[in-house]
Amino acid sequence: MPAPDVSVIGLGRVGLPLALSFADRGLRVLGIDNDEERLAAVRAGTMPFEETGGQEVLDRVHASGRLELSDRVADAAAARDIVITLGTPSFAHIEIDISDIRSALDDLLPVLRPGHCLILRSTVAPGTTEFVAGYLAKQRGLQVGSEVFVGHAPERIAAGRFFAEIESLPCIVGGVDAASGERIGRLFEIFGAPIVQTTPVQAELAKIWTNILRYTTFALPNLLMMDCEQHDANVFEVIDLINRDYPRGGIASPGLTAGTCLRKDFAFSEERSNAPGMLLAVSRVNESVPLFLVEGMKRRLDGLSGRKVAVLGLAFKRDTDDERDSLSHKLMRLLERELADVAVHDPLVATPTQSFDDAVRDADVVVLATNHSAFCTPEALHAVTELAAEDCLVVDPWDCFGAAQVFAYAPEVLALSQAGA
Ligand SMILES: NC(=O)c1ccc[n+]([C@@H]2O[C@H](COP(=O)([O-])OP(=O)(O)OC[C@H]3O[C@@H](n4cnc5c(N)ncnc54)[C@H](O)[C@@H]3O)[C@@H](O)[C@H]2O)c1
Repeated sequence: MPAPDVSVIGLGRVGLPLALSFADRGLRVLGIDNDEERLAAVRAGTMPFEETGGQEVLDRVHASGRLELSDRVADAAAARDIVITLGTPSFAHIEIDISDIRSALDDLLPVLRPGHCLILRSTVAPGTTEFVAGYLAKQRGLQVGSEVFVGHAPERIAAGRFFAEIESLPCIVGGVDAASGERIGRLFEIFGAPIVQTTPVQAELAKIWTNILRYTTFALPNLLMMDCEQHDANVFEVIDLINRDYPRGGIASPGLTAGTCLRKDFAFSEERSNAPGMLLAVSRVNESVPLFLVEGMKRRLDGLSGRKVAVLGLAFKRDTDDERDSLSHKLMRLLERELADVAVHDPLVATPTQSFDDAVRDADVVVLATNHSAFCTPEALHAVTELAAEDCLVVDPWDCFGAAQVFAYAPEVLALSQAGA
């Protein structure tokens, strides 16, 4: 293949769909990852994870020959535009971990030359893009804005909607100078979505606060759910009272709120917060939902030792196969610490789980941990009532079954759900 137009470093849930999208629009792309298994899957033409429409795009790109792969970050320098889509976790002590990005920069330093444009697509803490620009200038003496170009173009697409949203969501571009912003804008123009130019730090803040807004939005109904339990009130009825025909309502619904982005991106603000602890409290609310559910089961069943608990759903959100940073794992660990016999079923994730029937059969408790569409059906509820223990406790914070009860026994859930329908 002739020299690539663009390199994408990190072919994860963000990088691979992005690399495919560039290639699908006619660019020659070099995709780089150090995970041999991932590279082998893509080379063989198989999407390594579920992304709506991904396999079809991969099929087209495969046939076009416009995507090449490498396991060496330095190879990225073959293209003028280099997009970094590496993971940016947070340390447990609330500090961004940019070690993957640092390591990629160190690999690139010797091969960077005038004309290169480095684009951070990963989610980063405020100031990281300026750090990258400063690092190139310091280590290589490269003039940013005239010799090389640097900026942040954050990914705000939701998993499962990549190929639709890449064409429609405004693309935020924060170049460290006007020339960098223009270069990055020209690259992303190919998708047809509006390009919104700003500064690097505003781009960084816009991305992390997009996620902080969501994380906080869900913490409120989760806290309300716990409040309602204290007062023996029904959270779904209270939410209806808040929202019904009220122009300033709009509280969201409870659930298990996590996932790799929401669970860590708040930390990128919290690490230098003017209100230390505020977002940590938001996180603690969402993180305490599994314990709240376990305590609720314990109280109702007088302990969980030796009780069979069927957990439905391992993915962090509805209809995805992504189980990274899902609260289901925490829920299961807490249940095991209560000596419960935990069974689990998820039809989508790669981790092997039991069948629905095996997980639910004779269960004393069934927990809807993920609101997968497949679980939110009358058929699934009927199967629970037929297979589980007669007076099985159903724990449904998502209201999958439409009974509007976080904790209720299966016959009651069935009756309420049928009455609601
Ligand atoms: N997943 C999402 O829905 C989403 C959405 C918006 C933004 N983001 C952000 O995008 C970034 C990437 O997220 P992701 O979910 O795609 O991460 P990911 O972990 O799925 O992908 C990272 C990829 O980089 C590879 N990698 C790691 N170190 C490497 C190295 N030294 N050299 C080459 N490859 C290396 C890994 O093998 C992996 O395939 C993160 O900053 C994340 O916060 C993610």
